[in-house]
Amino acid sequence: MKGGTALHGEVEVSGAKNAALPILASALLADGTTTFRNVPDLADVATMLEVLRTMGCEAARLTGKKADTCEISIAGNITPEAPYDLVKTMRASVLVLGPLVARFGRARVSMPGGCAIGARPIDQHLKGLKALGADIHLTEGYVEARAKQLKGGMVNFDVITVTGTENVMMAAVLAKGRTVMENCAREPEVEELARVLNKMGAKVEGAGTSVITIEGVESLNPVDHAILPDRIEAGTLLVAAAISGGNVLVKHARPEHLDAVIDKLREAGCTITAEGGGLRCKAPRSLKSVNITTTEHPGFPTDMQAQLMALMTVSHGTSVISENIFENRFMHVPELHRLGADITIQGHTAVVKGVKALSGAPVMATDLRASASLILAGLRADGQTEVSRVYHLDRGYERLERKLRGLGADIRRVKERA
Ligand code: EPZ
Repeated sequence: MKGGTALHGEVEVSGAKNAALPILASALLADGTTTFRNVPDLADVATMLEVLRTMGCEAARLTGKKADTCEISIAGNITPEAPYDLVKTMRASVLVLGPLVARFGRARVSMPGGCAIGARPIDQHLKGLKALGADIHLTEGYVEARAKQLKGGMVNFDVITVTGTENVMMAAVLAKGRTVMENCAREPEVEELARVLNKMGAKVEGAGTSVITIEGVESLNPVDHAILPDRIEAGTLLVAAAISGGNVLVKHARPEHLDAVIDKLREAGCTITAEGGGLRCKAPRSLKSVNITTTEHPGFPTDMQAQLMALMTVSHGTSVISENIFENRFMHVPELHRLGADITIQGHTAVVKGVKALSGAPVMATDLRASASLILAGLRADGQTEVSRVYHLDRGYERLERKLRGLGADIRRVKERA
């Protein structure tokens, strides 16, 4: 890619990865055929469909005009197991644990293991399932969960966990009696999962708040549902407009899901307006530095930290960025240094001094959001930037380079050299 072009025009946001993954797993809760539309075409979604097929479900993305649609059919018994080979490539595969033990009385799911951005244990997922009466054993790197019938109970999470909340929700909907979950994650993706479960016939209340109450039901029905837009992809595209000094309408971006990000972009000097069912970002060539502290929703999302850091590398002043969710989420910093950024790390805080210009160079992606941050920096850098290991990007962005090219960016995908 070559930087320096101010982006202009309109771009569409795809369906949300972090809503699609738990929602695809929720199809395990009902017999019959479930249809999900607006499902982003991502490597992680393909892996979840593979996990479901490995168990004996029919799970596939349709083609042609319906290429954004996935259908999952479950007829009677399946093999309730998620193998290491798949779980190691995508830790969110652990989201089948709750629905499997609730629906089939047993599950064998590989432990996810560590990840580039942190240790990411699943102790809270297991704590929640135990509170509903599941018998849990860890053997040969697998979680073995069993329960003739889950029973409603009290679940109090020690830490706020998004997929932990989702996994326990998907178990509690078929448990006997009432479950009260406290200190829950309040992310829009948790709310969206509750919307789908209630459409299937569940009784979930309070999703989006820190207390969720669920009345268990006997059985659930398959549904047809369109998945909400991806707020992190929307935020990334708003930053693309900002870092290039452009003017872009991000269609389908929902302001109510991006308050903290919008506040920071406005504080930096962007004009953000709701327009045509989306958000427009108009940005001057030079922006002010702002401080960022990542917290759980509705605070500033950790999944936007790397992208905002890229913006701060060319903003006026000094920005202090504190990452409070994951212990190792500054892997993009040494690569931004290669582009000429001035960043100092002290523990889980990064101090970013804005520089006049970045200069293009070959850089390497280390995780999903780090790859987005390098592409954003490349949009601004003088000369050519080459981002390698973009398989990280494809896990969470649907053809991002094509969308940016549609806004005028000089960017193309080339085959990676061996
Ligand atoms: C979800 O991961 C997202 N992934 C992540 O997005 C996102 O960064 C994260 O939530 C935080 O918003 C999906 O939804 C598929 P957590 P999750 O459990 O659920 C600790 C992206 O870029 N913890 O909320 O795995 C954990 O170590 C990805 O799209 C425990 O200690 O995150 C972390 O420090 C990356 N024990 C904190 O809680 C547990 O049992 C929050 O993690 C669970 C979590």
